[in-house]
Amino acid sequence: MYVCNCNGIREREVRAAIEAGASRPAQIFRACGSQPQCARCVCDMRQMLDESQEVLKYAAE
Ligand code: FES
Repeated sequence: MYVCNCNGIREREVRAAIEAGASRPAQIFRACGSQPQCARCVCDMRQMLDESQEVLKYAAE
C-alpha cells in the first residue's frame, strides 16, 4: 500500500525508515530519497510515527 502517491513511498518503506530512526516526516522523506510535494501523506506519516511511539512506550513498561 502506498503512503505517498507523489513519490511512490510504500507503507513498508515508511516503517523501515521509522525503525532506522526517523522521528519526523522530513526524515522519512530523506530516508526514502525524496522530498514532500503535495504533503497529503504527512498526516499518515505522523500517525505511523505516533503508533510506533506508542508501541515503544508499552514495550518499555
Ligand atoms: S502524497 Fe506524499 S507528497 Fe504528495
